[in-house]
Amino acid sequence: MTTTRAGTVIHVRGLEKSYKGLHVLRGVDFDVVRGSIFALLGTNGAGKTTAVKILSTLLGADAGTASVNGFDVATQAGDVRESISLTGQFAAVDEILSGRENLVLVAKLRHLRDPGGIADELLDRFSLVDAATRRVSTYSGGMRRRLDIAMSLIGEPPVIFLDEPTSGLDPQSRVEAWNSVRELAGRGTTVLLTTQYLDEAEQLADRIAILHEGRIMVNGTLAELRALLPPAKVEYVERRPTLEDVFLALVGTTSKSGERA
Ligand SMILES: Nc1ncnc2c1ncn2[C@@H]1O[C@H](COP(=O)(O)OP(=O)(O)O)[C@@H](O)[C@H]1O
Ligand SMILES: [Mg+2]
Repeated sequence: MTTTRAGTVIHVRGLEKSYKGLHVLRGVDFDVVRGSIFALLGTNGAGKTTAVKILSTLLGADAGTASVNGFDVATQAGDVRESISLTGQFAAVDEILSGRENLVLVAKLRHLRDPGGIADELLDRFSLVDAATRRVSTYSGGMRRRLDIAMSLIGEPPVIFLDEPTSGLDPQSRVEAWNSVRELAGRGTTVLLTTQYLDEAEQLADRIAILHEGRIMVNGTLAELRALLPPAKVEYVERRPTLEDVFLALVGTTSKSGERA
């Protein structure tokens, strides 16, 4: 086991990974503190999924060390798997089942007591009560992603990996997914998410690490990252709303049931 500072749940040092000739990770270092939201930010192809796969024991590293919840990903993979859940880039829900049936199924697979009670609690937390008995094939992208996140919470793993949790979602669904992620961290779960969206990292993360050309270029709080740039000149221009502001103002956010208002 690697030595880590108290409170460090994810510890990564010198991680390297190549696919044949392609040197994707070239010495990645970072730490994630318990109960925080950590964003790994990078463009398409930067190596975010590769890093998440290594941390969740789906892929071996070529060099370096990584530990999750105090367990080494290479030598204590079973303990790591019991400590985590992974929500991939594409929702892993069963379309034919209802939302509630999906949740009950996972709770049963994890041999938990009272699968129905667990499902009902999560449906409530993720605003899916009204849609609980409907087939997932009728859900919006945002509802599906919320269900996916809810499924990853069954068994209360201390560490959750979310690989691009809002890719392909419309603006309203993104806001819903963000709220779900905040909910998790509010209860003490450590969240490592990957994203290619600057606004997502800005909205959610306690710390942001930018993965670029195989290494972490910068790693800090939003304030620390902002401080890297010279202070902006004060200009007397009215702040113009972004397209997203306008869209959300016109279309509105969703109601508690997750249905479009
Ligand atoms: N199994 C694989 N075999 C070969 N190349 C791969 C494989 N998986 C990913 N890659 C390549 O590695 C790079 C990083 O991929 P990935 O980790 O998926 O990036 P990201 O998640 O940041 O978009 C990309 O160029 C991708 O094409
Ligand atoms: Mg990816």
